[in-house]
Amino acid sequence: MKTTSGGYVVSKCRALLLLIVFIGSLIAVGVLVYFLADRPYPAAATNGATASASSSSSSTTTNKKDQHHEMNGSNNKNVRLPRAVLPVRYDVRLFPVLEKGNFSILGQVSIDLECQMETDRIVLHSADIVVDPKSVKVIEQGKSSGKTLMVASDGGIHYDIEMEFLVIRLCPKHKDKLVKGANYTLSMNYVGNLTDQLRGLYRSTYKEDGVEKYMAVSQMEPTDARRAFPCFDEPNMKAIFSVTLGRHRDMTALSNMPLINTTQMQVTLLHHLNLFILHPEGMDGFYWDHFAPSVPMSTYLVAFIVANFTQVEADVGNATWKFNIYARPSASNQAQYAREIGPKIQAFFEDYFQIPFPLPKQDMIAIPDFAAGAMENWGLITYRETALLYDEKKSSVNNKERVCEVIAHELAHQWFGNLVTMDWWTDLWLNEGFASYAEYLGSEHVEPGLKWLQQFVTRDLQDVMSLDALESSHPISVVVHHPNEINEIFDRISYGKGATIIRMLAAFLGEKTFRQGLTNYLKSRQYGNAVQDDLWDALTKQAKANKVPLPTGVKQIMDTWTLKMGFPVVMVTRDYDNSSVFLSQERFLMQRSNASSQDKTVYLWWVPLTYTTDFQTIGSTWLADGQTSKKHELSIPADKNQWLIFNVDQMGYYRINYDSQNWQMIGQQLMTNHTAISAINRAQIMDDSLNLAEAGQLDYETALNLTRYLEHETDYVPWDSALSSLGYISSMMSRTSAYGLLKKHFRTIITPLYNLVGFDQKVGEDLLTTKLRINAVSWACSMGNKDCISRSVNSYAQWMADPENIDLISPNLKGTVTCTAIREGDEIEWEFALNRYLASNVASEQAVLLSSMSCSEKPWILAKMLEMSLNSTSGIRKQDAARVISQVAYNSLGRYMSFNFIRNNFDELRKVFPSTFSSMSGIIKAVASSFNTELELKELMQFRVEKSVGLSGAERATQQSIDRAKNNLNWMRQNYHKVVDWLQRIY
Ligand code: BES
Ligand code: ZN
Repeated sequence: MKTTSGGYVVSKCRALLLLIVFIGSLIAVGVLVYFLADRPYPAAATNGATASASSSSSSTTTNKKDQHHEMNGSNNKNVRLPRAVLPVRYDVRLFPVLEKGNFSILGQVSIDLECQMETDRIVLHSADIVVDPKSVKVIEQGKSSGKTLMVASDGGIHYDIEMEFLVIRLCPKHKDKLVKGANYTLSMNYVGNLTDQLRGLYRSTYKEDGVEKYMAVSQMEPTDARRAFPCFDEPNMKAIFSVTLGRHRDMTALSNMPLINTTQMQVTLLHHLNLFILHPEGMDGFYWDHFAPSVPMSTYLVAFIVANFTQVEADVGNATWKFNIYARPSASNQAQYAREIGPKIQAFFEDYFQIPFPLPKQDMIAIPDFAAGAMENWGLITYRETALLYDEKKSSVNNKERVCEVIAHELAHQWFGNLVTMDWWTDLWLNEGFASYAEYLGSEHVEPGLKWLQQFVTRDLQDVMSLDALESSHPISVVVHHPNEINEIFDRISYGKGATIIRMLAAFLGEKTFRQGLTNYLKSRQYGNAVQDDLWDALTKQAKANKVPLPTGVKQIMDTWTLKMGFPVVMVTRDYDNSSVFLSQERFLMQRSNASSQDKTVYLWWVPLTYTTDFQTIGSTWLADGQTSKKHELSIPADKNQWLIFNVDQMGYYRINYDSQNWQMIGQQLMTNHTAISAINRAQIMDDSLNLAEAGQLDYETALNLTRYLEHETDYVPWDSALSSLGYISSMMSRTSAYGLLKKHFRTIITPLYNLVGFDQKVGEDLLTTKLRINAVSWACSMGNKDCISRSVNSYAQWMADPENIDLISPNLKGTVTCTAIREGDEIEWEFALNRYLASNVASEQAVLLSSMSCSEKPWILAKMLEMSLNSTSGIRKQDAARVISQVAYNSLGRYMSFNFIRNNFDELRKVFPSTFSSMSGIIKAVASSFNTELELKELMQFRVEKSVGLSGAERATQQSIDRAKNNLNWMRQNYHKVVDWLQRIY
């Protein structure tokens, strides 16, 4: 029908259909353009791009490192962008098309550039994007304003697929050049894919009232902003972002900054997009949301969301910002906990850093499909549902702890990471390590009952030590280039070790100096970038100002912890007659296969030592990074019958070994009155002694005898340490003839605790008691405590009889109860859990059920779970696939099945985990963590050879798994019989 204005009236549905058909054909054309454009680029041009890279100091250093690598035969090309032009401001306009069959992104980007040196080309990032060649424009700004430079007609737009570069070359015939000091605007229209790959701008799917719904959401870090829009995708190329998002009228759009206005999507705009022509009336249901320009920031922090979610506004008191939580409508009732603690933690960090949060709003949103745990996008933090949502009735204290931890971590990044950003990914640890440290401070502020500062030692310090004790560990600071390598360093070393050495630094500088230095560092670098030395400089200055006695500069001390891998074990030998001790250090390794990995001229650290004989008076001293052969002697006025403990509250990142007499005295103290030693040091003693024994540096008898004090222990942290170290022995012995005896011993240890905390939750008990019960019940049941098993089996049977009754099993015990009932039970117990999993609307409950389902001892059920993990219709999300495979692998029956599954489905797995291979790393580690036979080791090594290409990005994890398997094999040879002898002696 013709209208008066000359347009055509098209029904909405038809309009959309037309739009979709058009986009479809456009993509087809685009794909064609894509492949046509993929011609080899003239060699000279590539050189040009690299040559111009030396214009800035930071890229010059990278070039040098690259050359160095190339000389070593490493295949690292220079993946850094040239610095001939730098982005100042982006105008990004995006329309994610959320229509089944036509998921795509229509985009337009316009980038203001500052030219740093003359060049005839612009090199920026772009991946899986098709640019409309006719739309590409380079316009000079300023005096001759409006002058359009000619883009070369032949090869003017080139995709370097391997490097993920888009190269725009000016026409050689016109001799157009970008000149130094001038400003330009580069603009273009493009089409991208709205995939389900959990990176770039992607789609997430969920059900609302039984109907399938779609949303668009972004995950840019580390190198996927280039999949959402062509950009200069490096952390030190900060710019201002003005974002416009297209959406249907039923949807809400969100970005880093607040909405400023909304306009109707017009045909003129669509024309402007130059992508398709459609009648305006068809577009009346579509809008553009325009967001305020951002502060200067890195591309990896940009966020776009289009979804039909519920907003829950938080109470912020008199804060200068607004704070909102978003979730699927039917999950929005689970947002209360985040709503309560979010603003409190944000205010805490404002005070801690002494810098106000600079944006007018903070949004936190729970995404049904999300690869990581959470992402700190400035002003729009995205979370996995389990990391943000908490259901009072259905989630456990561990879920609450996780939500608190993750929120605190991402909020800490708003300063450390967002306001001041690492210059390049080599310093990633600075971002992640710091946030991993500060999350404990923020969490302690809102949830002190969880004693976060104590838990630090088990959750981070002791946890990472087990990885860092391998020869194949890596230094915190690693030179990285390619996206695969960058992804690979989001690991326990960057996070856990990073956090641990920062905690150690804060301890030896003193809290006041540390905080002041930090604030100075952040203020002087705000909206910019930094390398680790900048932080050390700021702290050294502050230490001088506050007259903190240090043996050398902060940099000299910290370099020994960031540039070398591993950590030391300090040997303390007492001279009991002269009240003195001798100290020496050596790299702690679980197993040494190569003498150079303990080279005494390399592996030495500046070790801040503390010691006490009573936890009243604390002495301190330093071991220098040059003190090896000469033993350091220290006079300590301690009675010869008095124990001496080093590394008070385990503030330092090192292990301590003592002479046997001192170990004996510590043991006696633990047996008579363990509270004379601090809870953290009790945890340290458990962890150090059992690990020293594992490494063959302390006899198992001493270590195992120390654990006998646990019958008096009622604190959470020492138990947590002891159980994870004992868990290692259990995993080594679970398929040996002596397992029955070991189980008996573990039952003897755990039963008093189990009886103390009881199976049932008490009203009003503190959170750590609940956590202690979770551990006690889980161990009691798995070690065969009859009471525990029958209570679990009965509760589960009651639940099966009354599935909707949520009061039958406490959410805290649901994991163990389900696991035990499934292990003891049959197919129907497993099916019931699966059905509850599929029916649940609470992600944290789902996660607990899914992992308990892997407790089955029926091989065919485990096989079914493995198959389900990769089947998109099974109800298991892609984000959870890796976890399912790992969980099956942790079951000693499923271990080998998982390994076979990975080998047989390797190509499929690669597709599921495209570039973020950390999932692949996780699976390999899970599968191989308990390998302890020659055959398993051999097969693992063969696997690495056969799949070497597909394992890129998981190489280090594979090597670490091999090392671990070797350690395990060695453990079986050296220690198995000793442990069995000890067990036989006491039973
Ligand atoms: N910046 C990361 C998210 C991330 C991880 C991006 C890996 C890209 C690759 C975020 O701050 C983070 O560290 N999240 C953690 C949770 C945190 C509490 C340790 C995560 O995702 O597990
Ligand atoms: Zn982080």
